[in-house]
Amino acid sequence: CHGASHVFVILGASGDLAKKKIYPTLWWLYRDGLLPKKTSFIGYARSKLTVDEIKQKTIKFMKVEKDEEKKLEEFFKLNSYVSGAYDKTEAFSALNKAIDAKGSCNRLFYLALPPSVYESVTLNIKAVCMSKDDKNWTRIIVEKPFGRDLESSNTLSSHLAALFKEEELYRIDHYLGKEMIQNLMVLRFGNRIFSPIWNRESVASVVISFKEPFGTQGRGGYFDEFGIIRDVMQNHLLQILSLVAMEKPPSTGAEDIRNEKVKVLKSIPPVLMENVVLGQYIGKKGGEGEEAKGYLDDPTVPKGSVTPTFASCALFVKNERWDGVPFILRCGKALNERKAEVRVQFRDVPGDIFREGEVKRNELVIRVQPNEAVYMKMMMKTPGMSIDCEESELDLTYDNRYKGVKMPDAYERLILDVFMGSQIHFVRSDELHEAWRIFTPLLKQIDKEKPKPIEYVYGSRGPKENDKLCTEFNFIYTGTYKWVKPQPH
Ligand code: BG6
Repeated sequence: CHGASHVFVILGASGDLAKKKIYPTLWWLYRDGLLPKKTSFIGYARSKLTVDEIKQKTIKFMKVEKDEEKKLEEFFKLNSYVSGAYDKTEAFSALNKAIDAKGSCNRLFYLALPPSVYESVTLNIKAVCMSKDDKNWTRIIVEKPFGRDLESSNTLSSHLAALFKEEELYRIDHYLGKEMIQNLMVLRFGNRIFSPIWNRESVASVVISFKEPFGTQGRGGYFDEFGIIRDVMQNHLLQILSLVAMEKPPSTGAEDIRNEKVKVLKSIPPVLMENVVLGQYIGKKGGEGEEAKGYLDDPTVPKGSVTPTFASCALFVKNERWDGVPFILRCGKALNERKAEVRVQFRDVPGDIFREGEVKRNELVIRVQPNEAVYMKMMMKTPGMSIDCEESELDLTYDNRYKGVKMPDAYERLILDVFMGSQIHFVRSDELHEAWRIFTPLLKQIDKEKPKPIEYVYGSRGPKENDKLCTEFNFIYTGTYKWVKPQPH
């Protein structure tokens, strides 16, 4: 698409997502020369703003180096801004005029908007802003929340499907833009050693976790309507699960991969409340600053809210490969560390000949962030005169193995994918449907029965009940081994 002109429209240009993520990402792509040559950007929102005011809002998120000032000027010269309502077709006609003024071009619309205006905005884009000739395309990028349960998500999907073709729709789950998530395909299908053991014969359990060391940070108003299950588990963690558990696709084409993801999701029955642990953080006694504040101390959170900020659950994939193997999803805010990882725990060695309890289970760990790494926990003979066994690892830490390689931000890859028309790392509507099907009964039950989440202290490992759940579902945590980030040699 390098020869053609492109116009990238940011709807909701005055909002948080635009300022913190979208403008900075467009700048990085521009700075690194990755965008098609003739690309310009138009911001759209209700407030009357100038490009200069947008620049002031977003610049602190752009990480601009001293010698990049001139480039940054060039970038902002390619920007313009149109203000208008989200529900007025005339206003969108004015936006369209601004796009037309750039000449014949491909059009990208990024909806950095609250879901309440999704419908009117997409209707207006369809009515007056689409490319009019066959040689130019229009693509629409949407972000979660995609509804709040199966019905509302289906309503949104049918609305979008009536306006746009699936090839025009790019549903972002930004975890699909992360290096280690994209690496899952290669790790699984580019290595002979894993395929024979990637099944119920050898795998005891799989834990997919997401931990954040901070709370809602004033975003409580938004968060409270959704809770951690809708915010992280139903999308990011389930997407990872589908890539870990799916069958090998016939090719690396987007539709082949997405077909396999849908297929494996279809084999997962809805989560049962009895296999779930819910938590909510409280302030740490004697803690300083944020850590002293619990979720309910956030002024934007409604009093007495029972919205979970921590959740873990066990899911099952009822197919020939995985029947009986628990997949434990765990996510939480205000925990002891920032970490996202996939941990495949293998079964015990049959016919163990060593001292009882000495041999621990193997684990393959894919550390998504921070410090990307793949490591295999192994038993080794303690080096030297000793005859004992000990836990060790085969370690591939990216910082050491790939020194100096710059890892692009998830949004950089994903936005570039939209320019290139690659939908591999975007969520298809049937995937979304299955994801909601799995979680909706549980979410409805929680909304109705309002179970009180278990309290856990800001900065802790989360509710102890989660450890019980893990043990119950065949994940053995011995606490005898801790991966330490290897020092560069
Ligand atoms: C978002 C959630 O989707 O992902 C946030 O809404 C969460 O609550 C964020 O903090 C985490 O993303 P990352 O890339 O920092 O792991």
